[in-house]
Amino acid sequence: MSQSIWRKKPISAFEADMKKSNLNRVLGKWSLTAIGIGAIIGGGIFVLTGTAAHYHAGPALALSFVVAGIACIFAALCYAEFASMLPVEGSAYAYAYGTVGELFAWLIGWGLILEYGMGAMTVAVSWSGYFNKLLGLFSIKLPAQLTNDPFSYTGEGFSMNLPAFLIVWVVTSILVKGIKEAASANNLIVVLKVAAVLFVIFVGMFALKPENWTPFIPDAKDIIGEDGKPHSAYGIGGIFGGAAAIFFAYIGFDAVSTQAGEAINPKKDMPFAIIASLLICTVLYIAVSLVLTGMMHYEKDIVGDALKAPVAAAFDKAGKPWAMYIITAAATAGLISVMLVMMLGQTRIFLGMAKDGLLPNFFKEIHEKFKTPYKSTILVGLVVSIVAAFTPISLLGDMTSFGTLFAFAMVCGAVWLLRMREPQLERGFKVPALPVIAVLGILTNVFLIINLNKLAQMLATGWLVIGVLVYFIYGKRNSNLENNV
Ligand code: ALA
Repeated sequence: MSQSIWRKKPISAFEADMKKSNLNRVLGKWSLTAIGIGAIIGGGIFVLTGTAAHYHAGPALALSFVVAGIACIFAALCYAEFASMLPVEGSAYAYAYGTVGELFAWLIGWGLILEYGMGAMTVAVSWSGYFNKLLGLFSIKLPAQLTNDPFSYTGEGFSMNLPAFLIVWVVTSILVKGIKEAASANNLIVVLKVAAVLFVIFVGMFALKPENWTPFIPDAKDIIGEDGKPHSAYGIGGIFGGAAAIFFAYIGFDAVSTQAGEAINPKKDMPFAIIASLLICTVLYIAVSLVLTGMMHYEKDIVGDALKAPVAAAFDKAGKPWAMYIITAAATAGLISVMLVMMLGQTRIFLGMAKDGLLPNFFKEIHEKFKTPYKSTILVGLVVSIVAAFTPISLLGDMTSFGTLFAFAMVCGAVWLLRMREPQLERGFKVPALPVIAVLGILTNVFLIINLNKLAQMLATGWLVIGVLVYFIYGKRNSNLENNV
């Protein structure tokens, strides 16, 4: 194998790219933090908490959130050091290009399509589910032909998930229009959804039944899982199983690192926003999970429909059915910003890869007036909307977690490597106790990958193998480093 798959992009080349960036620099510290929160709080907290408590952790779900939060904090610290040193659009892809080498960088970029592109597709489908539920609360029902993909539709003739399709185009048009518009839409949605989460915590606090928390860590036992197969639940193992199951809820803080080209003061503000958005959401998540398992018994109450919409079900049970309107409306609005940031992140990763010659120039064309990579944004919108409308993509949500955890583990390794190789580089933020945090980050993230759904693991590995082929067919030959550009 040729040495050149290990070639690295010099740090000076990243700095030169940064100076040439023609994106609009308008994002300050709090807008960046809102981008993180915008991507993090979404379907995960409103949906996965039920299954994770019932099938894995019981009341110790709060500890699952602590475990997954810790795995994310390790990664967030490592992302923050890179962001303070290499503020470029490509995020984990770019960090790997400067440290581990081109093939790995490519693989991470390819893997991030699972996080951002596929993440946006699955979120679009969940959004459609919430939107239909919201319409249902007002007694409006769309025909099944327009709300189901052809694989899930049981009737005859044509069918598509029309709401999922349309919402992707709404998000695409905001993203094409400009980063300022996208950030304003995101800020507004973030305020709404944080308010809804605080509502759940503070109103729910008065409907707790503390006996639901005992025993806090139920004894381990074999139960029939979601997939109909027996598995070991609860106990200490259940806390870790729960952590993998709810990891999806944390995805998104790393999207801040794709905004380097649009940040006013990236070296300082991006590390702040990455860590702040994650910490804020971790605290909110732990509180929500405590309230939820305090309002409903994990085994007796979180069953049937409550598994699909546990937060709303908890309030229904507490005699506050009107809370369902607030929660459903907040989730419907909240998921829009998750999609917004995921699609934003996807186009900025492509932009970084195209600048390095690893993707065609199409992905780096910036609109003269709007200053956004409009062609790439429209292409991403097209693919995301079609897959969301015509396939049962939501079954593959764990692939999004795979792509993310893969990038996290790699960033933890890369930060350590660069610290050893180029200790003199100026770093606005430094990971404390470095080898320890990086090693723990790699171990926890790999551990969570091992705990993901097996089908998702196989499909995601297949995706990475295809990525290696595309690298040799296209990326390697067209790389700027190959052609001395
Ligand atoms: N963290 C995001 C969500 O839960 C992806 O929807």
